[in-house]
Amino acid sequence: MTGKPTLAVVGATGAVGAVMLQILSQHADIWGEIRLIASPRSVGRKLAVRGEEVEVVALSEEAFDGVDIAMFDVPDEVAAQWAPIAVARGVVVVDNSAAFRLDPEVPLVVPEVNPHAVRTRPRGIIANPNCTTLTMIVALGALHAEFGLRELVVSSYQAVSGAGRAGVDALRAQLSLVAGTELGTKPGDVRRAVGEDTGPFPEPVALNVVPWAGSLREDGWSSEEMKVRDEARKILGLPQLPVAVTCVRVPVITTHSLTVHARFQGEVTVDRAREILATAPGVVLCDDPAAGEFPTPADVVGTDPTWVGRLRRALDDPTALELFVCGDNLRKGAALNTAQIAELVASEFC
Ligand SMILES: NC(=O)c1ccc[n+]([C@@H]2O[C@H](COP(=O)([O-])OP(=O)(O)OC[C@H]3O[C@@H](n4cnc5c(N)ncnc54)[C@H](OP(=O)(O)O)[C@@H]3O)[C@@H](O)[C@H]2O)c1
Repeated sequence: MTGKPTLAVVGATGAVGAVMLQILSQHADIWGEIRLIASPRSVGRKLAVRGEEVEVVALSEEAFDGVDIAMFDVPDEVAAQWAPIAVARGVVVVDNSAAFRLDPEVPLVVPEVNPHAVRTRPRGIIANPNCTTLTMIVALGALHAEFGLRELVVSSYQAVSGAGRAGVDALRAQLSLVAGTELGTKPGDVRRAVGEDTGPFPEPVALNVVPWAGSLREDGWSSEEMKVRDEARKILGLPQLPVAVTCVRVPVITTHSLTVHARFQGEVTVDRAREILATAPGVVLCDDPAAGEFPTPADVVGTDPTWVGRLRRALDDPTALELFVCGDNLRKGAALNTAQIAELVASEFC
């Protein structure tokens, strides 16, 4: 084809979609038409992208007419149904849902780690990893390339926007009920104040920490925990990598944090790890505890890179590193990575 490719953003009205429209307005303008698609509920809404108001159209087969690349930012079941329909109409799909991530015929791509994978897409679909995996994988990919990863032990501190607009609405509503009170000093008082409607979370998240994200899988694991293990293995090309992970929801609106214990093939030094992380594309090293410098969601939100701090060699294992990472779950954790993948695909059209 000649000229700029046509892009569709499916799920343009959602939490990820809103950030996608910002990113499309900020990045180099490589697109021809940008078509905004959502459910029939949103038809006729006008959203700003590239300084223009664009009207949202309903998801339908015809909505993909003339589209070259479509980013899907919709729930799993909507992506599972509609991505193949778009592909059948000649569209390359970059999907942000979990519907295709573990399909062996669908590459799972992080442009800083495995950009080559984007070209092998027998189903016409490229998957974007889960936000929790994405928060750590750029830094880990750089360390793995040097040291060879052997094992991961991870805990997450996940923001409520990881559960979409419903998660943000739930925390805001709960905060309005508990702010300025002395709730949180007696068992159950936050729960009583919040009531039964805890939104997409099993417990109140305001003034609280909830050791759960996703749905129940075998043997007490959560779906989010399984995603972190399975997706990290696939992206790094390490199908047997031992991964222990606990996912926790915290009262932060946007930006996931993780503690990571990473064990490598041989002895590692903090100095070399620092050099790697300081020069790795997409990573910012922010690590000077003596000066009170480490990444926190309050500073990281709205930024693109993975921020790394608290870098230490494991106390009892010279082959392992400890680190704390933060990343905006709606930018690199979702919309930005999807946009980067779509830009890689778009370069094939020129
Ligand atoms: N939030 C994150 O941090 C994050 C990170 C990585 C990946 N993801 C994934 O990205 C996807 C979107 O997440 P989100 O957080 O943006 O969700 P969200 O805020 O709930 O938005 C969902 C979007 O999907 C649209 N939609 C829902 N049902 C539809 C249907 N039947 N037909 C057409 N459009 C439909 C909605 O349109 P209406 O407004 O018209 O209902 C809305 O635009 C999910 O698969 C999620 O797992 C999210």
